[in-house]
Amino acid sequence: MEGEEDEDEIVCLDQSFFINDDYQLTNFTFGSQVIQLFCLHSASTDYDLTGQLVWPGAMLLNDCLSKNAEMLQGCSVIELGSGVGITGILCSRFCHDFVLTDHNDEVLKILKKNIELHASPENPNCCTGLVAEKLEWGNIDQINQILQNHSGGFDLVLGADICFQQSSIPLLYDTVKHLLQIRGKGRCKFILAYVSRTKIMDSLVINEAIQHGLKITEVAGTRCVVGNLNGTIFEITLQ
Ligand SMILES: C[S@@+](CC[C@H](N)C(=O)[O-])C[C@H]1O[C@@H](n2cnc3c(N)ncnc32)[C@H](O)[C@@H]1O
Repeated sequence: MEGEEDEDEIVCLDQSFFINDDYQLTNFTFGSQVIQLFCLHSASTDYDLTGQLVWPGAMLLNDCLSKNAEMLQGCSVIELGSGVGITGILCSRFCHDFVLTDHNDEVLKILKKNIELHASPENPNCCTGLVAEKLEWGNIDQINQILQNHSGGFDLVLGADICFQQSSIPLLYDTVKHLLQIRGKGRCKFILAYVSRTKIMDSLVINEAIQHGLKITEVAGTRCVVGNLNGTIFEITLQ
């Protein structure tokens, strides 16, 4: 009928339209450690799914940890913004137990699939003590839920390439401070693999740590180029 062709059609796209879950089994090598896991090779969505890929910060952190694996021996570790889980899977070969966390449900699905792959007895590097939990930075209920099974807290908090959204940095440090305070001064530290993309974020990461009453120190000798960007490792502790 006349006029109908002029009407705009309403196209409803839910978030599943943007989700690419065509993960590929991929090998990564850090020193003598080879890790095989499912991940995407490029970000192709219009939705918050950064965690479907392995980021340069994880390459930096895993290189550093594989060279200093003795620091992980017997440790209890929690990671913030784990993505596909490459750091936790490497660390679980050395540490006592490792809690991988992320806030995105789609990312948690692939993270759990990668944990299953590595927990299988058929895997020659079978990992035990790896669990995935949902954790949105700043969410007290979620952190308390995790702490129900880890009432003594953790020896280490890790984060790789998790500083890219300015509004989330204060909440990230709220969660970090909460975790550091469970063990107390000198008994837990946050190791952050930071990749510089903007000057504003460079300052925010340092200033917000100080605002939270935390001490932030760049680990000597960790400054390097990763994926054409400048990266470094920070150690963050209670003052
Ligand atoms: C750039 S990816 C890095 C993933 C992984 N650490 C790596 O280096 O490959 C950032 C990760 O942080 C998670 N993330 C972002 N904002 C978050 C928040 N507010 N709370 C919890 N996780 C968050 C994302 O879902 C994603 O998995």
